[in-house]
Amino acid sequence: MLDSPSNTITVTDNRTGRTIQVPIIDGTVKAMDFRQLRENDDDFGLMVYDPAFTNTASCRSAITYIDGDAGILEHRGYPIEQLAAKSTFLETAYLIIYGELPNKAQLAQWTHDITYHTFVHEGTRKFMEGFHHDAHPMGMLISTVAALSTFYPEAQNVDDAHSREIQTHRLIAKMPTLAAFAYRSGRGLPIVYPDNDLSYSGNFLSMLWKMSESKYTPNPVLERAMDVLFILHADHEQNCSANAMRAVGSSRPDPYSATAAATAALYGPLHGGANEQVLRMLGEIGSPDRVLEFVKKFKNGDNRLMGFGHRVYKNFDPRGTIIKGIADEILDMTEPHPLLDVAKELERIALEDDYFIKRKLYPNVDFYSGIIYQALGFPVEMFPVLFAIPRTAGWIAQWREMITDPEQKIARPRQVYTGERQLDYVPLEAR
Ligand SMILES: CC(C)(COP(=O)(O)OP(=O)(O)OC[C@H]1O[C@@H](n2cnc3c(N)ncnc32)[C@H](O)[C@@H]1OP(=O)(O)O)[C@@H](O)C(=O)NCCC(=O)NCCS
Repeated sequence: MLDSPSNTITVTDNRTGRTIQVPIIDGTVKAMDFRQLRENDDDFGLMVYDPAFTNTASCRSAITYIDGDAGILEHRGYPIEQLAAKSTFLETAYLIIYGELPNKAQLAQWTHDITYHTFVHEGTRKFMEGFHHDAHPMGMLISTVAALSTFYPEAQNVDDAHSREIQTHRLIAKMPTLAAFAYRSGRGLPIVYPDNDLSYSGNFLSMLWKMSESKYTPNPVLERAMDVLFILHADHEQNCSANAMRAVGSSRPDPYSATAAATAALYGPLHGGANEQVLRMLGEIGSPDRVLEFVKKFKNGDNRLMGFGHRVYKNFDPRGTIIKGIADEILDMTEPHPLLDVAKELERIALEDDYFIKRKLYPNVDFYSGIIYQALGFPVEMFPVLFAIPRTAGWIAQWREMITDPEQKIARPRQVYTGERQLDYVPLEAR
């Protein structure tokens, strides 16, 4: 037995009897360290196999910390509960991107820089008119954010810190504008240009809902609720869309193209679309007295209780807890939502049920967010769009960290090849 330092693992390859010591750094071992284990000289070396990256750290990151067992989410060390209660979305975006809370002058400059860039080139508006009248707003958002790269060719200089800075401002500033344009054109409504007198969230509400009034004044409670929803969705470490942003960004295209890829990843029902499924499920249950009957079905494996469970959180999703509070506040102001009582009864019964307790299934961020969005007047197609706006801050932070990380290279996984080899081509007439 080798004399092993305590911060290593000793691995013996039983094919050859060779033993190696692999250093453990920050609770991880390097996959490349296993390459030295070879069966013979022709062997490529041992690889690790991890479809869906369920146990692979793909980067070192100082942006977002999650402890799924304890139900903790922190951005740059600050608990999400404090950010949701005390910060604004723009301040949280600054924190996520630059690593520290801004001082007064920095926040004023940052707010100015974002506000200054809210308008989009008129060409963007024109080609948005080319979409079919019932085009999904996510399809429109993905395409138009990619198209922004054609207006800013200098964005290709991803190694230029100044260029990265300007594109950061533009992306955060323009996403709400594109999102609102997509919403209005889907409704057949004339688009509303940004109002730079308003806050980030207030301006978004104005671009969505302004009609004939000369100036839109957002309801302060709704404006704050929108802002808090944006804070809650700003980043969530290496999720599917952040991974897409990093993977596409690693071949060094401009950040608009990488953001389009991240937005596309968010479009899927397993990522940005789960809250829509929650609404469908609640609608199917219909009334609180039918909850018990449905909970039995969820336990039989017939269906999943949507909005419950999480790959990382094995405790309450802290965002879900905050969102529940917002739901109560919003629904006091809007028409009573017919499904809120169903959701509350479902949550109550599931949290007392052994099946859910044993499997550590708790409500996640999507359980109440769909109800809030619907109460605010959004159609379900807009749900992932509302997610993409704030998540852009997280994507940019992940992208900037990746671009400046000397350990990162073009993302290029290996594979375990399972197909045929060395076949002779068969002419068409002989097949
Ligand atoms: C989020 C989710 C995909 C995480 O899945 P995961 O980490 O791969 O967990 P698993 O699929 O391995 O589930 C573990 C066990 O809990 C059960 N389970 C997980 N989520 C469940 C749910 N929502 N309803 C009922 N049972 C559930 C599984 O059937 C499995 O049970 P078993 O051990 O008896 O086979 C999953 O919980 C889910 O589908 N939730 C509903 C969809 C949703 O709300 N998505 C939004 C996430 S933010």
